[in-house]
Amino acid sequence: LRQIKTDANDFGMMSYDPAFTNTASCSSKITFIDGDAGILRYRGYPIEQLAEGASFLEVVYLLMNGELPQKKALDTFAHEIVMHTMVHENIRELMDGFRYDAHPMGMLISTVSALSTFYPEAKKIEDAENRRLQMVRMIAKIPTLAAYAYRHRRGLPVVYPDNDLSYAGNFLNMMFKMTETKYKPNPAVENALDVLFTLHADHEQNCSANAMRGVGSSKVDPYSALAAACAALYGPLHGGANEEVIHMLHKIGSKSKVPEFIESVKKGEGRLMGFGHRVYKNYDPRAKVIKRLADEVFDAIGKNPLIDIAVELERIALEDEYFVKRKLYPNVDFYSGLIYQAMGLPMDMYPVLFAIGRTPGWLAQWEEMLLDSEQKIARPRQVYLGYDQRDFVAIDKR
Ligand code: ACO
Repeated sequence: LRQIKTDANDFGMMSYDPAFTNTASCSSKITFIDGDAGILRYRGYPIEQLAEGASFLEVVYLLMNGELPQKKALDTFAHEIVMHTMVHENIRELMDGFRYDAHPMGMLISTVSALSTFYPEAKKIEDAENRRLQMVRMIAKIPTLAAYAYRHRRGLPVVYPDNDLSYAGNFLNMMFKMTETKYKPNPAVENALDVLFTLHADHEQNCSANAMRGVGSSKVDPYSALAAACAALYGPLHGGANEEVIHMLHKIGSKSKVPEFIESVKKGEGRLMGFGHRVYKNYDPRAKVIKRLADEVFDAIGKNPLIDIAVELERIALEDEYFVKRKLYPNVDFYSGLIYQAMGLPMDMYPVLFAIGRTPGWLAQWEEMLLDSEQKIARPRQVYLGYDQRDFVAIDKR
């Protein structure tokens, strides 16, 4: 929609759409969502099929390049990622400077941003080769930064990347390795983490993708734009809902208390966390995959006792007129926290895991935005509601 003016003095017609609920800020070929039908596709491929058949790095390749890789191309890409997992020692020292109880998401945002000072050439964003190198670096290094943040919080020495391991396996190793012997991640946990990264890899124009595109549209280097996207994700309305689900399940306490809790939600005393979505007015397709995944993980490493409360909550809510009428279904956050908790991950790491998975989506969208000739620096208009002109009054006369 372009501004329509009848003459130079006419303010014209403008769309007023706070929170962009009905405004497309860009066109994109990356991710398709049909919220009414509960459909999510990356580059045309249904999320269920990618979660079932593709590794996370295959999905990263797909998002970045538009097509699935042949075996050789995937091997080359995976090798490239492995070659860039290390971060400069000064980044480790920078992290040492944070308070012992610093939130890992705050540390991640700061160190992603600090990477721009280690790679000043990253600002040459018009150079395709250079752009690609920076994207590979960010995808490779973000698990390293995340694991460093986790270990800093616990006063543990960092574990350097082990390039013999898979993307998810290497991350688990950097997080949990405690002895000199080679750490072996549980295959079910490693696979679940890989799938969780895939499920979070992109979700079109959400708050953080919008931040990545908006900040990136100023042509700043991609590390600075990525730090902005991570900051947007840090907010409790975006990346923090799965943590709220765990708090809620603890508060409910037992299966028998679920009906009482549902009634309190219906009275407006709180929300059913992990339910409802701005776009999905049907079952979030990612939640379906995660529910299945949770069973696999619990079979392998033991059940999270909160799952029984969650399943009962879902069963009752899906039969209740209040939730049916408002089209409130479980979203991606409803079961993911239960898996992370069973894996031994603390709650403050949940948004960090989201950020690792979402990084390729942010980067693919950033590059798409740069190559889109229709895109300029993001600059929305406003509806001014302040004073008309008035005269300045000197301070002694006010
Ligand atoms: N529990 C109870 N009622 C709800 C819930 C919920 N989780 N979500 C929405 N509603 C009700 C609202 O009270 C409202 O009812 P009303 O029409 O009687 O006033 C109606 O459903 C519509 O709600 P809105 O807030 O207008 O819906 P919106 O699309 O703006 O909100 C949101 C979407 C923020 C996700 C909301 O459903 C919510 O707060 N859910 C809980 C938090 C959550 O799980 N967030 C994670 C989202 S997924 C992600 O970001 C990765």
